[in-house]
Amino acid sequence: MADNPIIAEAVKAALTGVEIPGGGSLSGYGGLSEIIVTTGAVAFAISVAPGMEAAFGPARSAAQQAAERVAEGRKVMVSLTSDKATAAQGHAHRPGPPAKEAVPGVRNIIAVGSGKGGVGKSTVAVNLALAFAAEGLRTGILDADLYGPSIPRLLGLEGRPAVREDGIFSPHQAFGLNIMSIGSMLTPNQAVVWRGPMATSALRQLLRESDWGELDVLVVDLPPGTGDIQISLVQQVPIAGAVIVSTPQDLALIDAKKAIDMLRRTGVPLLGLIENMSFFIAPDTGRRYDIFGHGGAKSAAQSMGLPFLGEMPLVMAIRETSDSGNPVVASAPQSPEAQAFQAIARKILDASPSFRA
Ligand SMILES: Nc1ncnc2c1ncn2[C@@H]1O[C@H](COP(=O)(O)OP(=O)(O)OP(=O)(O)O)[C@@H](O)[C@H]1O
Ligand SMILES: [Mg+2]
Repeated sequence: MADNPIIAEAVKAALTGVEIPGGGSLSGYGGLSEIIVTTGAVAFAISVAPGMEAAFGPARSAAQQAAERVAEGRKVMVSLTSDKATAAQGHAHRPGPPAKEAVPGVRNIIAVGSGKGGVGKSTVAVNLALAFAAEGLRTGILDADLYGPSIPRLLGLEGRPAVREDGIFSPHQAFGLNIMSIGSMLTPNQAVVWRGPMATSALRQLLRESDWGELDVLVVDLPPGTGDIQISLVQQVPIAGAVIVSTPQDLALIDAKKAIDMLRRTGVPLLGLIENMSFFIAPDTGRRYDIFGHGGAKSAAQSMGLPFLGEMPLVMAIRETSDSGNPVVASAPQSPEAQAFQAIARKILDASPSFRA
């Protein structure tokens, strides 16, 4: 699957010079994963037997350096994992995750999640971030949807983020936001090859090896559901709160409940639920259509003891502005839909005054 087989081969060759505990070279080691090469990154994982992580630390550093020498400027991400060996025993037996550590410069992380895909999570994340910025908060956005990144399209980003001399990313800047997305480093058909441990390590690097500057809030756009990324995010950093996006369909809500349960179990404060694509107003007649059966999210929020943050109509302007990289809160701040996002942002800030500087 390597997009650039020449670089992948060069990395593999470079790893012959890396010695592993017990003797032998890393390139011949059975626990070395496929080497993934994207336009901006080289990634691979080293699986080791449980308890061997520390012993493999020097090999990992050496592998990082060896790969960097042949990566032609790409960011190198090497993850060291004992997941394979412990997977059979179930999650409860994994060695405890490292302690949560705040991201330097970032005061509050707000995660935007959903149960189902396609409910408008990324659209909401981007417009909420813009609404926070309009409220005067220093705001960033991290696209943690490693499997289907859409922030570059939504914000009209092109190319990769710059990498400083010390290897730290300089986030993209647009509409007053600091932005990082794995999507900027993948070609469209590459996203699927990021497997569990690699995705976890990519998330860690995006969070920790980016110069976020000083931010009041960092909005994190999560993939749908309750997978590796959600779990590793809540394990890696303290989350100030999570916003759940749902459409009114029952099925979406059943899925949303699963995501809510997971966040509750992991102790993430829930800021509330947003019902997206809630109803449709016909542009010609002004008539309102509750195409999905309206109000499900509100009653679901109430039954789960969650604040209901508001409903977003299904409007062409949201889709069009998203697709053109000009989100509605920035491009038409006086429009009803932008005002609806702004009202939701204010509701969140009123409930959590500490998010304001
Ligand atoms: N309120 C809305 N009105 C009209 N179109 C919308 C609305 N919200 C989202 N969309 C459109 O729906 C599509 C899916 O939205 P988006 O990509 O934000 O969803 P998502 O939940 O992040 O999806 P994924 O699960 O793939 O990450 C996009 O084309 C977006 O422009
Ligand atoms: Mg999305």
